[in-house]
Amino acid sequence: MGGAPEHPDIWRAIDAQPTAAKLADTLELRGRTPAQVRLRQRFLRFVPIRGGQHVLEIGCGTGVVLRDLMARVGRRGEVTGLDSSRTMLTRARALARGVGGAPLRLRRGDGNKLPFAAARFDVALAITVILHVADPLRVVKELARVTRVGGRVGLQDQDFGLVGAAHPDRALTDRILDGVAARIYEEPYSGRRLPALLRDAGLEDVRVLADLYQDTALTDFSRAFLERRAENAVRFGIVDASTAARWLDGFNDYVARGAFVLTMNYFGAVGVKR
Ligand SMILES: C[S@@+](CC[C@H](N)C(=O)[O-])C[C@H]1O[C@@H](n2cnc3c(N)ncnc32)[C@H](O)[C@@H]1O
Repeated sequence: MGGAPEHPDIWRAIDAQPTAAKLADTLELRGRTPAQVRLRQRFLRFVPIRGGQHVLEIGCGTGVVLRDLMARVGRRGEVTGLDSSRTMLTRARALARGVGGAPLRLRRGDGNKLPFAAARFDVALAITVILHVADPLRVVKELARVTRVGGRVGLQDQDFGLVGAAHPDRALTDRILDGVAARIYEEPYSGRRLPALLRDAGLEDVRVLADLYQDTALTDFSRAFLERRAENAVRFGIVDASTAARWLDGFNDYVARGAFVLTMNYFGAVGVKR
């Protein structure tokens, strides 16, 4: 036996999870949720992504962002996706088939040590990835290394200190949401730290775009998010199974009364390599 205990953040080692295929489904579910489409498009305009660029996205998952990038940079551009998970890359390859626009390259690799020459890309992106890595600065320095002078590094992450959920039991909601985030992530406030990370990695002219996921109807994506939080709260011993079930029922009651609200802050940050 032996070996390191498994890290509580399952996004770090997807291929080791029995639920890998389900995690891929979750990314696609998030990707097609209208409020998430708007968030993503707004961030890509903010970077900005332009026609003809060579763009890298690390931690590309199933390719939700890659497919948008292919359309944005067009035939004269080039899009490269890198991920540490074979499951994700297989899914990304299948889903990009037949999508028009830029040619797509996919590589398996680790954001800590990118398999690309220096100054290879116009833009390097990490979208909801920095939150999951053990050494964010190292990864951002790698993104900067593979970006050409004058090019941009763009990061976007949730900030789990800024989740707003309407629920009849506010104290229980805080205990579950804050407790789970503190146990899973090294830095649950990752979003608000992104500008400092870019500066620490030597990038300049850093700009920030704070944005919000807002749901008042309990979308499938929000439901999946809350169910995962409830499952983890039980797994980490924060609450017992019946309390977790009662907590989820509280959201259903609010939906029935037209009182459901869930918000999640996303921070985007972009820096220029000088
Ligand atoms: C939450 S998903 C984000 C996927 C995609 N960017 C999106 O927004 O739909 C995080 C992805 O990062 C990948 N990942 C995690 N750690 C990584 C690392 N050190 N190097 C490369 N990829 C990594 C995971 O395999 C997963 O596919």
